Amino acid sequence: MTIQPIELPETIVIGVLALQGAFIEHIHYLQKLRPQNHTIKAIPIRTLPELQQCQALVIPGGESTVISSIASHTPGLLEALIEFARDPQKAVWGTCAGMILMADVDGIGGGRKKMVKGWEGIGGMKVWRNLYGTQLESFEAPLTIPSLSNPSKPFNAIFIRAPAVHSLSPESQVEVVAQLPEQFLPPPPPLDSPLGEPNVDDLGKVWLKKGRKMVTSFHPELSGDVRVHEFWVEKCVLGR
Ligand SMILES: *[C@@H]1O[C@H](CO)[C@@H](O)[C@H](O)[C@H]1NC(C)=O
Repeated sequence: MTIQPIELPETIVIGVLALQGAFIEHIHYLQKLRPQNHTIKAIPIRTLPELQQCQALVIPGGESTVISSIASHTPGLLEALIEFARDPQKAVWGTCAGMILMADVDGIGGGRKKMVKGWEGIGGMKVWRNLYGTQLESFEAPLTIPSLSNPSKPFNAIFIRAPAVHSLSPESQVEVVAQLPEQFLPPPPPLDSPLGEPNVDDLGKVWLKKGRKMVTSFHPELSGDVRVHEFWVEKCVLGR
């Protein structure tokens, strides 16, 4: 999917949804970036006027139910977040719980639901929550990504009760940035789940991009490595 160029100010304000979860780390990582010709100002977002200052948004990890419930109790915020996620000119990145919020539907066990109606940032993606189970609730996996700066150095991806892609629709036009190495793959969800039959080839797709939208099922803000943030700012925020 090609990105339409847009006029961006010299100082780009990036909001990090700060209702709950790991937001402060995202702010610190974003503030370290020095993209050519622009300055990044990263701010926490708790209210509608704060969101309205932003050109781009990060939805961090945390509890997706808690995040959506707090957002819906803050005047105007949830509606504005939904608009933001739908606007093709706005860059949005969801990590972990943020990825769940960007899915069309998400499920766990026998359940199927959509956390927040309309917040379909990626389009055509179903996710399965907590597929990795208790044994693998947290783990680290090296990802090799040719499009990162210094590509020969693997990115140490940290997964904490990570969501997994259940399936991508064939029309989704989603670009896969990184796959989980085979030895880390979760067990496939049951074939007869309410989400429909999983696509086992999609299970390891832990980093996806579509236009200015991006999702990662891991926590790049805990790796001590700013390259995923740098990737998102260059490709999705600046569109270059
Ligand atoms: C930065 O700005 C200069 C001057 O306008 C331009 O030539 C250059 O391509 C820009 N760099 C990037 C990475 O866009």
